[in-house]
Amino acid sequence: MITGTAITKTFKQRGNVLGKREVPALRGVDFAIKKGGAVSFIGESGCGKTTLGRIIAGLETYDSGEIVIDDVAMSGLSHRHRQPYFRRIQLIHQDPYSALNPTRTIHQTLEAPLRLRARQTGRPRSWVDARAEELLSLVGIDPGYVLPRYPHQLSGGMRQRVVIARALTMDPEVLVADEAVSMIDVSLRLGILGLLRDLRERLGVSVLFITHDIATARYIGDEGELYVIYRGQVVERGSTETIIADPVHPYTQSLLSAIPVLHGLERPGAEQVVPTEALDEAQADEGCLFTRRCPFSTARCEAERPVLGHDGGEGGEDTEQLHACFHPRSRSVIPQGVRA
Ligand SMILES: Nc1ncnc2c1ncn2[C@@H]1O[C@H](COP(=O)(O)OP(=O)(O)OP(=O)(O)O)[C@@H](O)[C@H]1O
Ligand SMILES: [Mg+2]
Repeated sequence: MITGTAITKTFKQRGNVLGKREVPALRGVDFAIKKGGAVSFIGESGCGKTTLGRIIAGLETYDSGEIVIDDVAMSGLSHRHRQPYFRRIQLIHQDPYSALNPTRTIHQTLEAPLRLRARQTGRPRSWVDARAEELLSLVGIDPGYVLPRYPHQLSGGMRQRVVIARALTMDPEVLVADEAVSMIDVSLRLGILGLLRDLRERLGVSVLFITHDIATARYIGDEGELYVIYRGQVVERGSTETIIADPVHPYTQSLLSAIPVLHGLERPGAEQVVPTEALDEAQADEGCLFTRRCPFSTARCEAERPVLGHDGGEGGEDTEQLHACFHPRSRSVIPQGVRA
C-alpha cells in the first residue's frame, strides 16, 4: 500500500528578463494505491500526471507532503534508506525505442538488473538466465527468439514487452505505466494493455496507469480507481466505472464527452467548455482552477478554491466519488473545438 498526502511540487522555469517563472505542477495531491489495484491518472497535457508518477516512483523530489509505503513515512528516511522502498515501484517508459540500450542484446539488458536482484535475494548465479526466460515468457514473447537479439531487430510491441520484463526484474509491487502505449502502433496497444491487466491478476502487482485518453483508462482500470487531474489538482476521484457513467465535475464531463468523435452525436443544448489555449499558468488563480473555462462558474467559484470532497454533492457522504466543484451535477457538456 502506497499513500500520498498533500503532495506539492513547483518547478522554476527560465522565464523572461525579470527572472524565473514558477510553475505549480502539483497543488496538494492525495492518492492511495492498494496491492493489486489499478489506479489511473487522467488529464490533459501539462496537468502534472508525469510529475506525480515520477514522484511516486521515487524519481522526482516534492516540495511538501508525505509519502507512506507499507506504513513507513518516506520523509523520516535518508535517501539511501528510501531506495529499497522505491525499488518496489517501477516505471515503464513511454518510448520503447529509447528505453532500451541499442548496443545491448536483450539478454544483456535483462542480465544486469537480474544479477543485482540475485545478489539482493541471495540467489545463485544460475538463477539469472532462468529468470530472464521466465520473465520474457510471462510478458508473452519467445525467449529463444528475443534474448540474442538487439532492440532494433524487434517490433515496437516486442520492445515494449521487453521494457515491461525489465521493470519486472526487480519484483515490483507497483508498475507505473506513463502513456505506456502512446508510442506504439494502434494495432498493438490492446495487447500491451491486456498484458498489464494480466500481470495484475497473475502477479498481484498494482498498476498505476497515466494517460490523457479516457478510453485507455477505462480498459485498464475497469474495476479500479480514476483520478481526474486538472492543473495540478485532483478534481474528481472515484471508481472508474462510476465516474465514467456519471461524472459530476464539468472538467471530467468535457473529457468524457470527447470520446464519441462521431460528429452530430453531441446532445443538443449542451454547454460548452472553453479550450485551454489562453491559459497562462503563471497567472494566479484565487478561486477554482477551472473557472476560466467553466460555463457554470459563479461568484463563489471565482473567490474560493473548492477542495476534493463531497461539498455541494447530492450523493452525500456515503458515496466514494469525490469532486472539487461547488456545483457538481450530472449534465451534458461538450468541449469546444480549438480553432486554428
Ligand atoms: N523538469 C521540469 N522543469 C520545469 N518544468 C517542468 C519539469 N517537468 C514538468 N514541468 C512542468 O510541470 C507541469 C506538469 O508537467 P507534467 O510533465 O507532469 O505534465 P503531464 O500531465 O505529464 O503532461 P503530458 O500529458 O504532456 O505528458 C508542466 O507545466 C511542465 O511544463
Ligand atoms: Mg506526461
